[in-house]
Amino acid sequence: MSTSLDLTAPTPAAPAVAADGVWLACIECGETYAPFESIRYTCDACDGLLEVRYADPPTFADFEGRERGVWRYADALPFDEGVSLPEGDTPLHHVPRLEDEVGVERLRIKHEGMNPTGAFKDRGMTVGVRVAKELGVGRLACASTGNTSAALAAYGARGGMETLVLLPAGKVASGKIAQAALHDARILEVDGNFDDCLDIVQDLAAAGEVYLLNSLNPFRLEGQKTIGLEILEEFMADHGTYPDRIVLPVGNAGNTAALYKCFRELVQSGALAPADVPKLTGVQAEGAAPMVEAVEEGNDEIRRWPEVETIATAIRIGNPVNAPKALPGIRNTGGTAIAVSDEAITDAQRALAAEGVGVEPASATSVAGLRKLRERGIVDSDEQVVCLTTGHLLKDPDAAFEAGNDPEPVPNDTDAILEHIAE
Ligand code: F0G
Repeated sequence: MSTSLDLTAPTPAAPAVAADGVWLACIECGETYAPFESIRYTCDACDGLLEVRYADPPTFADFEGRERGVWRYADALPFDEGVSLPEGDTPLHHVPRLEDEVGVERLRIKHEGMNPTGAFKDRGMTVGVRVAKELGVGRLACASTGNTSAALAAYGARGGMETLVLLPAGKVASGKIAQAALHDARILEVDGNFDDCLDIVQDLAAAGEVYLLNSLNPFRLEGQKTIGLEILEEFMADHGTYPDRIVLPVGNAGNTAALYKCFRELVQSGALAPADVPKLTGVQAEGAAPMVEAVEEGNDEIRRWPEVETIATAIRIGNPVNAPKALPGIRNTGGTAIAVSDEAITDAQRALAAEGVGVEPASATSVAGLRKLRERGIVDSDEQVVCLTTGHLLKDPDAAFEAGNDPEPVPNDTDAILEHIAE
């Protein structure tokens, strides 16, 4: 069946509701909506997910001459500028030892932990908070495993807006709560998991109490698309080609959906050949792997996992809300999905750290997944791969202590220390 989410779906014609060539469309029934006239997160007609659409999809030439960072890509976004700290322009690290060990032709690490609040969420928030201002809303809110709340609090503060965050009690890494607290969010700790928090915050949004800035909000994903634009531009500039594959952690599957949208729009404009589109490869923790289950079983829908557990608390998610956008992305790019153990996640976190790249556990799933796919021969040795690492090491200090060396108590004495280090 051909749908608007096909890789080679033609550029849609702007409907009457479009504003400056931008509108919202339902990915299920095709219903279209004016982008900024009223607040809406899903389709009124069928409750399907909404997507931002453009009459004039971007080419790489559109970005030339602009400063680096998210707003370099204004031609691919609904606004020219946003509430900014600024964000994006994250490094694409060469990791020679890991590249050798994994055994691929080229491995690069796109470290999204180098954004202002230490995670990729900033890319979505700079756009999302700009939209919130356009809509004239007062209070911003999200459910979060931690990073979204930190970004929302910081960008809300930057924009002079009130923020409310719902967190699963006892399951959020301390660095993230510290950020939300200091940036002045009101923090509600819910006796439930992330999926429960998301259900509740959607109720609050439906009641008109808050403006929802989870990745269910289609504008968040517009900002996150720029991860893909940066990877493609930089990889081409460095190596004269595009990567064969992008491997990324999956929680709510927002990034998977956003990267796929980035590729589709470039294919629409003719800037990217369908054959050059990287294979989207999602990785989840074994204790929270509903997307992997759907990909492996060939299902079009996700089965919600009521119980989830993993050391990678950022992706401790049983009901990935963006699955209807992300599953076609994985399938139509020839990618796949795989689950990895907590042990493999910690091993990968150590391997990245050994190259100087400090990431939180969820981020390391991309490398753990790539290792497993190589071992199984699903990824070939001649592939050029980019692994996305989504959050900074300092987000989860407890996990870092757990994975790293123990401090050694020593006397306050040089000779004793010389003796100690000689041991
Ligand atoms: N990696 C990190 C570090 C994250 O914080 C998240 C999501 C993901 C990966 C998954 O990304 O949802 O686009 O598949 N964190 C959200 C939060 C849920 O609340 O901070 P996704």
